[in-house]
Amino acid sequence: MSTPARVVIVGGGVAGLATALAAAPAPVLLLDRGRGGETAASTLAQGGIAAPMAVGDTPEAHARDTCVAGSHHNDCTAVEALTRGAVEAVEWLQRQGVAFDRDGDGRLQLGREGGHDRPRIVHAGGDATGAKLMEALVAAARVAPHIERHAGVDVDGLVLRDGRVCGVRATDAGGNHEALHGRAVVLATGGIGGMFAQTSNPADADGGGLALALAAGADARDLEFVQFHPTALALPGVHCLPLVTEALRGAGARLLDEAGGSLMDGVHPLADLAPRDIVARRVWRACRDGGAWLDAQRVGAAFPTRFPTVFRACMDHGIDPRVQPIPVAPAAHFHMGGIAVDADGRSSLPGLHAVGEVACNGVHGANRLASNSLLEGVVFGRRLGRLLRTLPGSGNDRGRFALVRRKPSLDAPRLAGLRELMMRAMGPVREGEALRAARDECEALAGHGWQGGLARTMVGAALRRRQSLGAHFRID
Ligand code: SIN
Repeated sequence: MSTPARVVIVGGGVAGLATALAAAPAPVLLLDRGRGGETAASTLAQGGIAAPMAVGDTPEAHARDTCVAGSHHNDCTAVEALTRGAVEAVEWLQRQGVAFDRDGDGRLQLGREGGHDRPRIVHAGGDATGAKLMEALVAAARVAPHIERHAGVDVDGLVLRDGRVCGVRATDAGGNHEALHGRAVVLATGGIGGMFAQTSNPADADGGGLALALAAGADARDLEFVQFHPTALALPGVHCLPLVTEALRGAGARLLDEAGGSLMDGVHPLADLAPRDIVARRVWRACRDGGAWLDAQRVGAAFPTRFPTVFRACMDHGIDPRVQPIPVAPAAHFHMGGIAVDADGRSSLPGLHAVGEVACNGVHGANRLASNSLLEGVVFGRRLGRLLRTLPGSGNDRGRFALVRRKPSLDAPRLAGLRELMMRAMGPVREGEALRAARDECEALAGHGWQGGLARTMVGAALRRRQSLGAHFRID
């Protein structure tokens, strides 16, 4: 069989869709676990897109905030590409049909979120930016003649010829396998929030793409850096928690302890808008000491229109945020680490590319700045898409064949145990002895399912980084 001219993109979130759209006219096969992006973390993103659009704002100022949040662990080339590409990314999204929120004079409304030194965030549909982006990009991909979509499939294997990735193994809901070849493979499979007992991600953000790349021998980096969002809606015993957007704190909401005192006064000069890791640790400790609440009552009657997603989630659980504080807890939110790639998404394995949260080009350093993640998906997705247009075929249909498969999944009880373990040992506050014990437990679980192996690799990275940096905070 001859190698098809198409590229195979795995993942139907913002990064995968932006890559697929930008690859035109190169033929693309887009593989998605969901039917139309509904299982992608992008759909849940409430924060907006950071872009230096205001008069007086610059890519340099945005880059400065990105690197301060990232504890200067960031890759400068990637940060420059991100912040210089931000305004163009917003304009491209508008051309795809995204209607960003505007003020009474028709100007783009710019909000402020933690770690930004000025208002810089565009939103769509209030706190429904991710959903609005996905609506537009899914619709654009549906009518794009160069994109063929296969929905409802899981990719659990990589096909190699002479060490070069040239296809994937896709498995459908009925357990049927199919090998799908392409001149390049892109993983855009999202993050690892699902590995933790509490996450703001959908369950599909389970680390499966990262585990597959590691099984094939791709290099990874910065795996210890996991960002916890300080304010998920606290629902005991629930794995995937609704997010309570940071934009509420930008609009004046305040974090309170059990006694109604401010949680953040005196902790950081930016108080409630301090960098996310600092707020997450404070909320983590408060939850241990009796609980944490977000008082957003000052948003008042405008709540349902300004923050419709949070409003619905609260009301669904019997909390009216217009008149009562919202119980909150930290939740695994974003993985700064991932498959090591350059700014064009090339991994260390020939033929394999990665983009979005599963990838790590170093742009976020040790801690991602608010509203830089959808932006990352669009900027680096479009960049990778442009590269894919020009990639030559491997021309090697007969080389030594290999199929690298991810191990089977852990069974439900073991997976639940692993998630609790990750939350305890790899949460916002870490400590050497707990990490060592967790590594041994993960080692034992690795024989039972791929999540154990991935967790062991992440815990190992956390153990090797002995000093605190960004989201990796060690009390020992
Ligand atoms: C939020 O809305 O608080 C999350 C935004 C982000 O993760 O960038």
